[in-house]
Amino acid sequence: MNRTFVICKPDAVERGLVGQILTRFEQKGLKVVAAELRQLDEATLDRHYEEHVGKGFYADLKAFMSRSPAMVMVLEGPEDVYAIVRTMMGATNPAESAPGTIRGDFGTIMTENLVHGSDSNESAAREIGIFFPNL
Ligand code: RTP
Ligand code: MG
Repeated sequence: MNRTFVICKPDAVERGLVGQILTRFEQKGLKVVAAELRQLDEATLDRHYEEHVGKGFYADLKAFMSRSPAMVMVLEGPEDVYAIVRTMMGATNPAESAPGTIRGDFGTIMTENLVHGSDSNESAAREIGIFFPNL
């Protein structure tokens, strides 16, 4: 089995979409092995999004990600489960994400794109270490 890290971002929690998003992952056959509603602070976001710190969109991204609680979770599935989750999430910009994907079905705004998923097995290990160090 293989694990990946997922966030239902503040917009998903505010809009009451966490249940529907989780249901999609569960219907796909992925297992929730950890989950917690958490207010994300600046230091944690700087670690999590270290590759984006300093980019033009980072201030908006950080303000959005810390404006209200997010649901952080670890999902378990077959080899390269991160890629399965990324396919289900859809393209980064919800205005361009395919229908049938989470972003494609629920969003229209680049920043408010509902979910985060690790982009590799290495990212998954790093991010799980940040958010669930005891796992
Ligand atoms: P995430 O990390 O949140 O799962 O999203 P992602 O891999 O699909 O996209 P990434 O390139 O890692 O970007 C992280 C988040 O930053 C916002 N973003 N805005 N205005 C822009 O050009 C821009 N680029 C990225 C998005 O909200 C994206 O989810
Ligand atoms: Mg990313």
